[in-house]
Amino acid sequence: MRFVLIGPPGAGKGTQSVLLSEYLGIPHIPTGDLLRAAVKDGTPLGVEANKYMEAGELVPDDLVLKIIRSRLEAGDTGNGFLLDGFPRNPSQAEALETILDEIRQSLDAVIAIEVPDQEIIDRLSSRASCPTCGRVYGIRKMPPTGDGLCDFDDTPLERREDDAPEVVQNRLNVYREQTEPLIAYYEGRGLLRRIDGVGGTDQVTKRIVGVLDGTPV
Ligand code: AP5
Repeated sequence: MRFVLIGPPGAGKGTQSVLLSEYLGIPHIPTGDLLRAAVKDGTPLGVEANKYMEAGELVPDDLVLKIIRSRLEAGDTGNGFLLDGFPRNPSQAEALETILDEIRQSLDAVIAIEVPDQEIIDRLSSRASCPTCGRVYGIRKMPPTGDGLCDFDDTPLERREDDAPEVVQNRLNVYREQTEPLIAYYEGRGLLRRIDGVGGTDQVTKRIVGVLDGTPV
């Protein structure tokens, strides 16, 4: 299974990616996490990307495509993959088609996770995530068991700088202007599946697995 999770910031793409990747036994490829790792490592790409990320803007396509191309060619994607946060604009979607053609693969589905803006703002104001395994928590609704530590590897959880309210508002604007046009793009290709992203995380996972199986729940 080869598919994309698309949705506004805070829709639950990262949360669902980790769960689906484990359930389906396929790698998940999160461009946001890969970019944050490059920022943390201080690579030239990370230094350049950070200028855009801290403002809530999209990182230029050429930088993101370098990461995606090398990740998709890594050799562990033969049985499938899950893209989280890529593509994010029409030119990235076209570049993805080219890369997949080159490695003789194609997408099976694009899952659009739909969540109202107010819920997004509530979620992002209380998000904390594990820098080691990528698991994401909501301090109010989905807190870790231990005090500020990841349930799976005890790593201290971190807040994201781009979750500051003014940056979240810009990320939402950027999503509406640049990413939302992909909904129509993939609808036109018969790949789009819409999912209600409000509800328990297990419930949302079941909805996604249901549409991937062709049996909506
Ligand atoms: P990225 O890291 O991809 O951020 P994003 O798309 O804005 O999405 P988020 O990670 O904020 O949210 P999410 O949908 O993953 O939700 P989560 O599961 O964490 O990108 C960051 C930046 O990198 C971009 O702004 C851009 O600069 C750059 N970038 C990345 N990809 C790029 C690309 N392709 N091109 C150019 N630039 C790129 O959940 C959020 C919160 O909600 C958590 O607290 C979680 O616990 C909670 N939650 C999740 N599900 C539920 C639920 N069902 N009920 C209640 N709470 C829930």
